[in-house]
Amino acid sequence: MTVPTVTLNNGVEIPQLGFGVYQIDPADTKDATLAALEVGYRHIDTAEMYGNEKEVGEAVAASGLAREDIFVTSKLNNGFHARDAALKAFDGTLEALGFEYLDLFLIHWPLPKVGDYLETWKAMEEILASGRVKAIGVSNFQQHHLQRLFDEADIVPAVNQIEVHPYLTQDALRAFDAEHGIATEAWSPIAQGKVLDDEAITAIADRLGKSAAQVTLRWHIQRGDIVFPKSVTRSRVEENFALFDFELTDADLTAITALNRDERTGPNPDEFNYIPD
Ligand SMILES: NC(=O)c1ccc[n+]([C@@H]2O[C@H](COP(=O)([O-])OP(=O)(O)OC[C@H]3O[C@@H](n4cnc5c(N)ncnc54)[C@H](OP(=O)(O)O)[C@@H]3O)[C@@H](O)[C@H]2O)c1
Repeated sequence: MTVPTVTLNNGVEIPQLGFGVYQIDPADTKDATLAALEVGYRHIDTAEMYGNEKEVGEAVAASGLAREDIFVTSKLNNGFHARDAALKAFDGTLEALGFEYLDLFLIHWPLPKVGDYLETWKAMEEILASGRVKAIGVSNFQQHHLQRLFDEADIVPAVNQIEVHPYLTQDALRAFDAEHGIATEAWSPIAQGKVLDDEAITAIADRLGKSAAQVTLRWHIQRGDIVFPKSVTRSRVEENFALFDFELTDADLTAITALNRDERTGPNPDEFNYIPD
């Protein structure tokens, strides 16, 4: 099964399908990540906030695969929104993963009321210039956060990782990303399971002989977004990888997109200002 790649705005290629490790217990993360690598995933999405970077790094080391054959993303945690803190946090991420370089580093949340994401973004630009990360981007940025970076910083983020699924289609923000050369990554792509009983989705799945999760993930793929569903269940890890031997029609895509209710499973980035202890 060949996973297509998306070319980011600095030429770096990222597999369009990856494996997310949010809410995987650190004790289970090495095995879960190794299972995903065995199935064929070559893109892992972690974060300092998830507490499992070390175990992702252990899985990469134990996999027998070359480091350059696996695309790894991590994210700057919310307590590090200032230049020196961000530089130090990136060193900590590389050390935890046991890597000499990272593929993609993101600002996890803009935290508009407590941090200065512009200063933080300038630190991300410094990290990119150091050569220890191949691309930098943001997560949970709204249009106005991105606009401030365009106005006051030098580098356009390579990606914007935002919540997207059939109940939150985010078409305005995805279009804005695309207009500015930013690839959209869709987090919680199956809304943590909430969309899987939807009749519009199960009807398409029944017709195609696929699961509701596969149909939903395929919808993302055909819309051009990058996805990394999470599962600790081997059969689901396999199921979520089997997306490239079928196609949705334009009518299927339209029917799924019409399910939008602007319903978030996670926080609103304009209001989320949480800093962990
Ligand atoms: N940047 C951010 O702020 C942010 C926020 C949230 C998530 N993310 C990233 O996005 C990734 C994915 O999002 P997510 O983990 O929140 O949610 P998700 O991938 O939409 O859903 C994961 C949930 O769905 C279940 N599941 C997975 N595949 C399934 C299938 N084929 N059939 C039925 N159930 C299935 C999993 O159960 P089991 O594990 O029990 O099998 C788990 O409970 C994360 O791991 C993380 O990398 C980023």
